[in-house]
Amino acid sequence: MSNINLEATVGGIPLPTCVYNASGPRSGASQALAKVATSSAGAILSKSATLEAQNGNPLPRVWHSDDNTASMNSEGLPNSGIDYYISSATIDEIFEDCDTKKPYLVSISGKTLADNLVMMDRIADAIASGEKRISGVELNLACPNVIGKPIIAYDFDQLRDILETISRKNYTFVLGLKLPPYLDGKHLQQAASIINEYSGMVSYVVCINTIGNALSVDPVSEAPFISSNGGLAGLSGPSSKFTALANVRQMRQQLKSEIDVIGVGGISTGEDVFLFLLCGASAVQVGTTHWKEGSKCFDRIVDELKQVLREKGYSSASECIGQLKSWSKEGARKTRAAKQRLKKKSGGASSSKTGLLGETKWILDAVLVLVVAVLLADKFGTISI
Ligand code: DHB
Repeated sequence: MSNINLEATVGGIPLPTCVYNASGPRSGASQALAKVATSSAGAILSKSATLEAQNGNPLPRVWHSDDNTASMNSEGLPNSGIDYYISSATIDEIFEDCDTKKPYLVSISGKTLADNLVMMDRIADAIASGEKRISGVELNLACPNVIGKPIIAYDFDQLRDILETISRKNYTFVLGLKLPPYLDGKHLQQAASIINEYSGMVSYVVCINTIGNALSVDPVSEAPFISSNGGLAGLSGPSSKFTALANVRQMRQQLKSEIDVIGVGGISTGEDVFLFLLCGASAVQVGTTHWKEGSKCFDRIVDELKQVLREKGYSSASECIGQLKSWSKEGARKTRAAKQRLKKKSGGASSSKTGLLGETKWILDAVLVLVVAVLLADKFGTISI
Protein backbone atom coordinates (compact mmCIF):
# COMPACT_ATOMS: atom_id res chain seq x y z
CA MET A 1 0.00 0.00 0.00
CA SER A 2 1.37 3.43 -0.91
CA ASN A 3 2.88 5.43 1.88
CA ILE A 4 1.31 8.80 2.65
CA ASN A 5 3.60 11.53 3.92
CA LEU A 6 1.95 13.62 6.64
CA GLU A 7 5.02 15.69 7.55
CA ALA A 8 4.49 19.41 8.02
CA THR A 9 6.33 22.54 9.03
CA VAL A 10 4.98 25.11 11.45
CA GLY A 11 6.93 28.36 11.28
CA GLY A 12 9.91 26.42 9.98
CA ILE A 13 9.70 23.76 12.72
CA PRO A 14 9.45 20.25 11.23
CA LEU A 15 6.59 18.03 12.49
CA PRO A 16 6.35 14.26 11.81
CA THR A 17 2.58 14.61 11.28
CA CYS A 18 0.45 17.65 10.55
CA VAL A 19 -1.98 16.98 13.45
CA TYR A 20 -1.34 17.97 17.06
CA ASN A 21 -3.12 19.07 20.20
CA ALA A 22 -4.69 22.47 20.78
CA SER A 23 -3.76 24.37 23.88
CA GLY A 24 -6.47 23.87 26.49
CA PRO A 25 -7.81 20.36 26.87
CA ARG A 26 -5.53 17.76 28.49
CA SER A 27 -2.49 20.01 28.19
CA GLY A 28 -2.09 21.38 31.71
CA ALA A 29 0.09 18.65 33.25
CA SER A 30 3.20 16.78 32.11
CA GLN A 31 1.38 13.41 32.41
CA ALA A 32 -1.28 14.52 29.91
CA LEU A 33 1.31 16.04 27.57
CA ALA A 34 3.33 12.80 27.76
CA LYS A 35 0.32 10.97 26.28
CA VAL A 36 0.27 13.42 23.37
CA ALA A 37 4.03 12.80 22.98
CA THR A 38 3.58 9.03 22.59
CA SER A 39 0.61 9.35 20.21
CA SER A 40 0.68 10.11 16.47
CA ALA A 41 0.42 13.83 17.19
CA GLY A 42 3.09 15.80 15.34
CA ALA A 43 3.83 18.23 18.17
CA ILE A 44 3.03 18.85 21.82
CA LEU A 45 1.52 22.16 22.88
CA SER A 46 1.15 23.24 26.49
CA LYS A 47 -1.86 24.80 28.18
CA SER A 48 -1.78 28.60 28.01
CA ALA A 49 0.41 29.67 30.90
CA THR A 50 0.05 32.73 33.07
CA LEU A 51 2.90 34.19 35.08
CA GLU A 52 1.72 32.51 38.28
CA ALA A 53 -0.15 29.23 38.71
CA GLN A 54 -3.92 29.66 39.11
CA ASN A 55 -7.02 27.51 39.65
CA GLY A 56 -9.34 29.12 37.11
CA ASN A 57 -13.10 29.56 37.33
CA PRO A 58 -15.37 27.45 39.56
CA LEU A 59 -16.93 24.22 38.25
CA PRO A 60 -18.88 23.44 36.15
CA ARG A 61 -16.84 25.29 33.55
CA VAL A 62 -17.07 22.90 30.61
CA TRP A 63 -20.18 21.63 28.82
CA HIS A 64 -20.71 19.21 25.91
CA SER A 65 -24.04 19.09 24.07
CA ASP A 66 -25.80 15.70 24.04
CA ASP A 67 -25.84 15.65 20.24
CA ASN A 68 -22.04 16.13 20.09
CA THR A 69 -22.30 19.23 17.94
CA ALA A 70 -21.02 21.78 20.43
CA SER A 71 -18.94 22.25 23.52
CA MET A 72 -18.39 25.29 25.68
CA ASN A 73 -15.80 26.25 28.20
CA SER A 74 -15.06 29.05 30.58
CA GLU A 75 -12.11 27.63 32.45
CA GLY A 76 -10.51 30.95 33.33
CA LEU A 77 -7.00 29.75 32.49
CA PRO A 78 -6.32 27.14 35.16
CA ASN A 79 -2.62 26.34 34.76
CA SER A 80 0.57 25.61 36.66
CA GLY A 81 2.37 28.86 35.82
CA ILE A 82 5.05 29.54 33.19
CA ASP A 83 7.96 28.18 35.24
CA TYR A 84 6.34 24.75 35.33
CA TYR A 85 5.89 24.55 31.53
CA ILE A 86 9.47 25.55 30.73
CA SER A 87 11.27 23.62 33.47
CA SER A 88 13.56 20.81 32.36
CA ALA A 89 11.93 18.49 34.93
CA THR A 90 8.50 18.97 33.27
CA ILE A 91 9.93 18.53 29.78
CA ASP A 92 11.79 15.38 30.90
CA GLU A 93 8.45 13.97 32.10
CA ILE A 94 6.74 14.87 28.82
CA PHE A 95 9.35 13.03 26.76
CA GLU A 96 9.93 10.17 29.22
CA ASP A 97 8.24 7.44 27.16
CA CYS A 98 8.78 9.02 23.80
CA ASP A 99 11.55 8.02 21.44
CA THR A 100 10.29 10.07 18.52
CA LYS A 101 11.49 13.59 17.99
CA LYS A 102 8.66 16.05 17.99
CA PRO A 103 8.56 19.70 18.92
CA TYR A 104 7.31 21.01 22.23
CA LEU A 105 5.59 24.38 22.01
CA VAL A 106 4.66 26.60 24.94
CA SER A 107 1.44 28.61 24.91
CA ILE A 108 1.28 31.79 26.96
CA SER A 109 -1.67 34.01 27.81
CA GLY A 110 -0.56 36.77 30.13
CA LYS A 111 -3.09 38.93 31.90
CA THR A 112 -1.16 42.00 30.77
CA LEU A 113 1.41 42.87 28.13
CA ALA A 114 3.99 43.12 30.91
CA ASP A 115 3.18 39.55 32.03
CA ASN A 116 3.58 38.29 28.46
CA LEU A 117 6.96 40.00 28.19
CA VAL A 118 8.18 38.52 31.49
CA MET A 119 7.08 35.05 30.34
CA MET A 120 8.82 35.46 26.97
CA ASP A 121 11.98 36.65 28.74
CA ARG A 122 11.90 33.52 30.89
CA ILE A 123 11.42 31.29 27.85
CA ALA A 124 14.31 33.01 26.05
CA ASP A 125 16.48 32.55 29.16
CA ALA A 126 15.55 28.87 29.48
CA ILE A 127 16.48 28.25 25.83
CA ALA A 128 19.71 30.27 26.17
CA SER A 129 20.70 28.24 29.20
CA GLY A 130 20.39 25.00 27.26
CA GLU A 131 16.71 23.92 27.24
CA LYS A 132 16.64 23.37 23.48
CA ARG A 133 13.53 21.17 23.62
CA ILE A 134 11.31 24.30 23.67
CA SER A 135 10.76 24.74 19.94
CA GLY A 136 8.51 27.78 19.92
CA VAL A 137 5.97 29.99 21.64
CA GLU A 138 2.26 30.37 20.88
CA LEU A 139 1.16 33.76 22.17
CA ASN A 140 -2.56 33.58 22.90
CA LEU A 141 -4.19 36.87 21.90
CA ALA A 142 -7.63 35.35 21.91
CA CYS A 143 -8.66 34.18 25.37
CA PRO A 144 -12.34 35.07 25.85
CA ASN A 145 -12.66 33.88 29.43
CA VAL A 146 -10.76 36.39 31.50
CA ILE A 147 -13.65 38.19 33.13
CA GLY A 148 -13.55 41.94 32.56
CA LYS A 149 -10.78 41.71 29.91
CA PRO A 150 -11.35 42.20 26.18
CA ILE A 151 -9.96 39.76 23.63
CA ILE A 152 -6.67 41.46 22.68
CA ALA A 153 -6.76 40.60 18.99
CA TYR A 154 -10.19 42.29 18.60
CA ASP A 155 -8.64 45.59 19.64
CA PHE A 156 -6.38 46.56 16.73
CA ASP A 157 -4.54 49.31 18.62
CA GLN A 158 -3.68 46.82 21.34
CA LEU A 159 -2.73 44.19 18.76
CA ARG A 160 -0.28 46.56 17.03
CA ASP A 161 1.04 47.75 20.40
CA ILE A 162 1.79 44.27 21.66
CA LEU A 163 3.47 43.20 18.41
CA GLU A 164 5.52 46.39 18.26
CA THR A 165 6.69 46.02 21.87
CA ILE A 166 7.63 42.36 21.36
CA SER A 167 9.47 43.19 18.13
CA ARG A 168 11.83 45.47 20.07
CA LYS A 169 12.92 42.53 22.23
CA ASN A 170 14.49 40.66 19.29
CA TYR A 171 13.59 37.22 20.61
CA THR A 172 15.04 34.43 18.52
CA PHE A 173 12.47 31.69 19.27
CA VAL A 174 9.77 30.82 16.77
CA LEU A 175 6.67 32.89 17.57
CA GLY A 176 3.07 32.03 16.67
CA LEU A 177 -0.12 33.94 17.47
CA LYS A 178 -3.38 32.31 18.51
CA LEU A 179 -6.17 34.38 17.01
CA PRO A 180 -9.87 34.68 17.81
CA PRO A 181 -12.48 34.06 15.12
CA TYR A 182 -13.13 37.14 12.98
CA LEU A 183 -16.78 37.22 11.96
CA ASP A 184 -16.44 40.21 9.66
CA GLY A 185 -14.22 40.11 6.59
CA LYS A 186 -12.94 43.67 7.11
CA HIS A 187 -11.90 42.90 10.68
CA LEU A 188 -9.97 39.87 9.49
CA GLN A 189 -8.32 41.97 6.79
CA GLN A 190 -7.26 44.57 9.36
CA ALA A 191 -5.80 41.94 11.68
CA ALA A 192 -3.94 40.29 8.77
CA SER A 193 -2.50 43.59 7.64
CA ILE A 194 -1.16 44.41 11.13
CA ILE A 195 0.35 40.91 11.46
CA ASN A 196 1.94 41.29 8.01
CA GLU A 197 3.84 44.32 9.31
CA TYR A 198 5.60 41.92 11.69
CA SER A 199 6.22 39.07 9.26
CA GLY A 200 9.89 39.01 10.28
CA MET A 201 8.81 38.12 13.82
CA VAL A 202 5.52 36.21 13.56
CA SER A 203 6.17 32.80 11.99
CA TYR A 204 2.64 31.44 12.15
CA VAL A 205 -0.92 32.17 13.26
CA VAL A 206 -3.41 29.71 14.71
CA CYS A 207 -7.04 30.17 13.63
CA ILE A 208 -9.31 29.99 15.60
CA ASN A 209 -9.76 30.14 19.33
CA THR A 210 -13.24 29.42 20.66
CA ILE A 211 -16.14 31.60 19.48
CA GLY A 212 -16.55 33.80 22.54
CA ASN A 213 -19.66 34.97 24.32
CA ALA A 214 -21.78 31.85 23.70
CA LEU A 215 -24.46 30.63 26.12
CA SER A 216 -25.86 27.13 26.72
CA VAL A 217 -29.07 26.94 28.74
CA ASP A 218 -30.34 23.91 30.69
CA PRO A 219 -34.11 23.50 30.16
CA VAL A 220 -34.47 21.47 33.38
CA SER A 221 -32.81 23.85 35.83
CA GLU A 222 -33.69 26.86 33.64
CA ALA A 223 -30.14 28.12 34.20
CA PRO A 224 -26.91 28.17 32.20
CA PHE A 225 -24.89 24.93 32.19
CA ILE A 226 -21.71 26.86 33.05
CA SER A 227 -21.50 28.48 36.44
CA SER A 228 -19.29 31.55 36.04
CA ASN A 229 -19.70 34.80 34.13
CA GLY A 230 -23.48 34.36 33.77
CA GLY A 231 -22.83 31.15 31.83
CA LEU A 232 -21.11 32.98 28.95
CA ALA A 233 -18.37 30.84 27.48
CA GLY A 234 -16.29 30.00 24.41
CA LEU A 235 -17.95 27.74 21.83
CA SER A 236 -15.96 24.88 20.31
CA GLY A 237 -16.60 21.53 18.64
CA PRO A 238 -18.15 20.70 15.26
CA SER A 239 -20.35 23.82 15.21
CA SER A 240 -17.24 26.02 15.17
CA LYS A 241 -15.69 24.23 12.18
CA PHE A 242 -17.21 26.39 9.46
CA THR A 243 -16.09 29.65 11.05
CA ALA A 244 -12.63 28.12 11.52
CA LEU A 245 -12.40 27.03 7.89
CA ALA A 246 -13.40 30.51 6.71
CA ASN A 247 -10.82 32.19 8.95
CA VAL A 248 -8.06 29.82 7.83
CA ARG A 249 -8.97 30.38 4.19
CA GLN A 250 -9.04 34.17 4.42
CA MET A 251 -5.92 34.41 6.59
CA ARG A 252 -4.06 32.22 4.08
CA GLN A 253 -5.17 34.55 1.30
CA GLN A 254 -4.23 37.72 3.16
CA LEU A 255 -1.11 36.91 5.13
CA LYS A 256 2.33 36.98 3.55
CA SER A 257 3.34 33.52 2.38
CA GLU A 258 6.16 33.25 4.94
CA ILE A 259 3.58 33.23 7.77
CA ASP A 260 2.04 29.76 8.18
CA VAL A 261 -1.62 29.32 9.08
CA ILE A 262 -2.53 26.54 11.51
CA GLY A 263 -6.18 25.46 11.65
CA VAL A 264 -8.16 24.59 14.75
CA GLY A 265 -11.91 24.39 15.38
CA GLY A 266 -14.25 21.41 15.31
CA ILE A 267 -11.82 18.87 13.86
CA SER A 268 -12.91 15.35 14.72
CA THR A 269 -12.00 13.26 11.66
CA GLY A 270 -9.28 12.86 9.05
CA GLU A 271 -11.67 14.30 6.50
CA ASP A 272 -11.93 17.47 8.61
CA VAL A 273 -8.14 17.79 8.51
CA PHE A 274 -8.24 17.44 4.72
CA LEU A 275 -10.71 20.33 4.48
CA PHE A 276 -8.43 22.56 6.59
CA LEU A 277 -5.44 21.67 4.40
CA LEU A 278 -7.41 22.63 1.30
CA CYS A 279 -8.29 25.97 2.90
CA GLY A 280 -4.61 26.70 3.48
CA ALA A 281 -3.64 25.23 6.85
CA SER A 282 -0.06 23.92 7.05
CA ALA A 283 -1.06 21.81 10.07
CA VAL A 284 -4.02 21.52 12.43
CA GLN A 285 -4.69 21.34 16.13
CA VAL A 286 -7.37 19.24 17.79
CA GLY A 287 -9.05 20.53 20.97
CA THR A 288 -12.57 19.35 21.79
CA THR A 289 -12.09 15.88 20.29
CA HIS A 290 -8.89 15.45 22.34
CA TRP A 291 -10.89 16.51 25.38
CA LYS A 292 -13.61 13.91 24.78
CA GLU A 293 -11.60 11.04 23.35
CA GLY A 294 -8.16 11.39 24.89
CA SER A 295 -4.82 11.20 23.09
CA LYS A 296 -5.83 8.13 21.05
CA CYS A 297 -7.79 10.57 18.85
CA PHE A 298 -4.49 11.55 17.20
CA ASP A 299 -3.84 7.97 16.07
CA ARG A 300 -7.38 7.68 14.69
CA ILE A 301 -7.38 11.05 12.94
CA VAL A 302 -3.94 10.46 11.41
CA ASP A 303 -5.05 7.03 10.11
CA GLU A 304 -8.24 8.53 8.69
CA LEU A 305 -6.32 11.36 7.03
CA LYS A 306 -3.99 8.86 5.35
CA GLN A 307 -7.03 6.94 4.12
CA VAL A 308 -8.70 10.09 2.73
CA LEU A 309 -5.52 11.21 0.95
CA ARG A 310 -4.95 7.72 -0.45
CA GLU A 311 -8.51 7.48 -1.76
CA LYS A 312 -8.19 10.89 -3.36
CA GLY A 313 -4.88 10.06 -4.99
CA TYR A 314 -2.60 12.36 -2.96
CA SER A 315 0.74 11.14 -1.65
CA SER A 316 1.30 13.85 0.96
CA ALA A 317 -0.59 16.29 3.15
CA SER A 318 1.57 19.18 2.02
CA GLU A 319 0.47 18.95 -1.60
CA CYS A 320 -3.15 19.72 -0.57
CA ILE A 321 -2.36 22.96 1.26
CA GLY A 322 -4.39 25.84 -0.15
CA GLN A 323 -5.69 23.80 -3.10
CA LEU A 324 -9.38 24.64 -2.53
CA LYS A 325 -11.10 24.75 -5.92
CA SER A 326 -13.80 27.16 -7.08
CA TRP A 327 -17.33 25.81 -7.21
CA SER A 328 -18.10 24.30 -10.63
CA LYS A 329 -20.93 22.37 -12.29
CA GLU A 330 -18.53 19.53 -12.91
CA GLY A 331 -17.57 19.39 -9.23
CA ALA A 332 -21.22 19.41 -8.18
CA ARG A 333 -21.91 16.54 -10.66
CA LYS A 334 -19.11 14.51 -9.08
CA THR A 335 -20.57 15.10 -5.61
CA ARG A 336 -24.05 13.96 -6.74
CA ALA A 337 -22.57 10.82 -8.30
CA ALA A 338 -20.59 10.06 -5.13
CA LYS A 339 -23.76 10.45 -3.02
CA GLN A 340 -25.65 8.10 -5.36
CA ARG A 341 -22.91 5.48 -5.05
CA LEU A 342 -22.98 5.78 -1.25
CA LYS A 343 -26.78 5.46 -1.21
CA LYS A 344 -26.66 2.32 -3.35
CA LYS A 345 -23.94 0.82 -1.15
CA SER A 346 -25.98 1.41 1.99
CA GLY A 347 -29.16 -0.05 0.48
CA GLY A 348 -30.99 3.24 -0.04
CA ALA A 349 -30.51 4.64 3.45
CA SER A 350 -29.10 8.13 3.63
CA SER A 351 -25.95 7.03 5.43
CA SER A 352 -24.28 3.75 6.31
CA LYS A 353 -25.06 4.34 10.00
CA THR A 354 -28.81 4.67 9.49
CA GLY A 355 -28.55 1.84 6.99
CA LEU A 356 -27.17 -0.46 9.63
CA LEU A 357 -29.74 0.72 12.16
CA GLY A 358 -32.51 0.15 9.58
CA GLU A 359 -31.34 -3.42 9.02
CA THR A 360 -31.17 -4.17 12.76
CA LYS A 361 -34.71 -2.85 13.21
CA TRP A 362 -35.99 -5.09 10.38
CA ILE A 363 -34.47 -8.18 12.07
CA LEU A 364 -35.93 -7.21 15.47
CA ASP A 365 -39.39 -6.75 13.89
CA ALA A 366 -39.15 -10.20 12.27
CA VAL A 367 -38.16 -11.86 15.56
CA LEU A 368 -41.06 -10.12 17.33
CA VAL A 369 -43.60 -11.35 14.73
CA LEU A 370 -42.21 -14.89 15.04
CA VAL A 371 -42.49 -14.89 18.86
CA VAL A 372 -46.10 -13.61 18.71
CA ALA A 373 -46.96 -16.26 16.09
CA VAL A 374 -45.47 -19.07 18.24
CA LEU A 375 -47.33 -17.84 21.36
CA LEU A 376 -50.64 -17.65 19.45
CA ALA A 377 -50.09 -21.13 17.95
CA ASP A 378 -49.40 -22.45 21.45
CA LYS A 379 -52.52 -20.74 22.88
CA PHE A 380 -54.75 -22.26 20.18
CA GLY A 381 -53.11 -25.69 20.55
CA THR A 382 -51.58 -25.82 17.08
CA ILE A 383 -48.19 -26.44 18.68
CA SER A 384 -47.03 -27.00 22.24
CA ILE A 385 -44.09 -25.16 23.83
C1 DHB B 1 -9.17 29.56 28.30
C2 DHB B 1 -9.96 29.63 27.22
C3 DHB B 1 -9.43 29.94 25.99
O1 DHB B 1 -10.19 30.01 24.88
C4 DHB B 1 -8.09 30.19 25.88
O2 DHB B 1 -7.58 30.52 24.71
C5 DHB B 1 -7.27 30.09 26.97
C6 DHB B 1 -7.81 29.77 28.20
C7 DHB B 1 -9.72 29.25 29.62
O3 DHB B 1 -10.86 29.63 29.88
O4 DHB B 1 -9.03 28.65 30.43
